Amino acid sequence: MNTLLLNPDDQGIAVAAELLLRGELVAFPTETVYGLGAPVFLPTAIAKIFHVKKRPQDNPLIVHASSIEEVSRVASNIPDIFYKLAEAFWPGPLTIILPKNACIPPIVSANQETVGVRVPAHPIAKRLIAAVGMPLVAPSANLSGRPSSTRKEHVLEDFEGRIAAVLDGGPCQYGLESTVLSLIPRPTILRPGAISLNEISKVLGTSVHYATHKVDKPLSPGMKYRHYAPKGRVLLFTCRISFQMHLQNAPNKSRMVLDPPRAEELFACFREADQLGYEEILVICDARVSSDAALMNRLSRAAEN
Ligand code: TXA
Ligand code: MG
Repeated sequence: MNTLLLNPDDQGIAVAAELLLRGELVAFPTETVYGLGAPVFLPTAIAKIFHVKKRPQDNPLIVHASSIEEVSRVASNIPDIFYKLAEAFWPGPLTIILPKNACIPPIVSANQETVGVRVPAHPIAKRLIAAVGMPLVAPSANLSGRPSSTRKEHVLEDFEGRIAAVLDGGPCQYGLESTVLSLIPRPTILRPGAISLNEISKVLGTSVHYATHKVDKPLSPGMKYRHYAPKGRVLLFTCRISFQMHLQNAPNKSRMVLDPPRAEELFACFREADQLGYEEILVICDARVSSDAALMNRLSRAAEN
């Protein structure tokens, strides 16, 4: 299969929508990362997503809708606080976990009783969902175990010849995946992202917590899998003296230095470090980086092994 690179003009969107409705996979840009899409009511196409990504079968997919109203097609028993959050943060990088509507195929939610939904802000994603006429499921457009794709080149690196098309939207604006917030049984952040805990707490007028392995069930299934780590060692430095000492002690290593790392470029840097075969990636975490929960979450996970 030749993977088409589509311009996001009217014709490109029409071709992408037609491919999706025929059950082919199309990657498209969102404001967070590229997604690998399939129509929510086409389980055979959704099965292809799991296959090409090599995604574990128990990891549910996020449904991308075009409006708050459309969420009622995929969710049920929607609590009032959902509307507060959706009005405050949608369209945008917040995924909300709700009780699922019985009509959605079980493969979407990996047999869970819940479904994750978001209305993306990216104009290309919005036009594509509208052209298809129903919500699209879309995990990040990367092979499982690789960093999320933030540029069309990353999508092609992982899926050239294995998916029908990619809509070229240039680099993604935010560069890390959405915040995942469960409302069941109470507001809990399963994955930090662009929308912060403080912003969510403010809108709800109550305190919101991060999920912890011990207390919260169900956790986001995706969080239990080993996350992406570059082949080289990732070392985080909160102090410049220890960074300098490290350089003095190991002067000859091949390395990338992120001083400081930028969220929108992090995954591109990880991919580049792998391609260049760097032995280490040194990351300077200044005060701004240390206070960015989403960026620190991705960095700490990459530094884990
Ligand atoms: O920014 C994003 O969220 C991107 C763009 C394409 O929208 N999508 C994305 O999807 O990151 P994915 O599949 O790579 O990550 C979704 C995460 C996984 O950790 C998954 O386990 C969790 O959300 N998730 C999805 N549905 C869930 C559910 N019903 N309950 C708990 N966690 C869920
Ligand atoms: Mg992902």
